[in-house]
Amino acid sequence: MAVLFPPGEFRELKKLLLIYGWGQKNLLTKLDILNQDFQAFHSNNPIENIRSRIKAPESIAQKLFTQNLELTAANARAHVKDIAGVRIICTFAKDIYVLAEILRSMPHTKVISEKDYVSSPKPSGYRGYHVAMEMPVYYSGEVENIPVEVQLRTAAMDFWATLEHKVKYKYDEHIPPHLSDELVSCADQIAKLDDRMFIIHNTISILNSNGQHE
Ligand code: GTP
Ligand code: MG
Repeated sequence: MAVLFPPGEFRELKKLLLIYGWGQKNLLTKLDILNQDFQAFHSNNPIENIRSRIKAPESIAQKLFTQNLELTAANARAHVKDIAGVRIICTFAKDIYVLAEILRSMPHTKVISEKDYVSSPKPSGYRGYHVAMEMPVYYSGEVENIPVEVQLRTAAMDFWATLEHKVKYKYDEHIPPHLSDELVSCADQIAKLDDRMFIIHNTISILNSNGQHE
């Protein structure tokens, strides 16, 4: 059953989403510069690609509803911390930590909290590194700090998470044990694959730096 914001609250929510979009845009601009910087001036780029989304009003409503909270824009602001989301797909697993450090040291931004599901995967098998940030936005004569949730994953981790999300949706969060076991096993294999790919990359880098081509 779909849960909906009352009309007045929906209008307020739309304003909130506009402002959250500005915070997200602020971060995306910084990340775009970083991406171009790596491309132009460095030998390796830890960024594979960047995606972003603003959470749909229906998903925000659903999240408030499951937490037994009234469907108001104020509650969305107070309780839904992933309204603005940015996903950075990193080249190798170690690049996730490179990017996390960059996010920490970036000026005019603030890291609020971090969750490392790369070194401590979830029981589902999920891997990823989450950074809750605040981006300042200047509008109507004042600065407001907008929360933006950043997820750092490798392409392999992202592939897994997308499939698992579809499976979870299909089974309404109750994945049958044989499938969840299979997903955990795939997640472990994917982590091993990320490691093996990195070793190949390292071998090539060493050969290149020695000026060898065979
Ligand atoms: P949410 O209420 O889902 O936002 O959880 P949370 O606030 O406790 O944050 P958490 O760091 O656990 O996860 C936030 C986001 O990470 C989710 O919205 C998903 O995008 C992703 N995520 C976390 N766990 C899983 C998982 O088991 N499978 C998949 N596919 N994604 C996950
Ligand atoms: Mg969340």
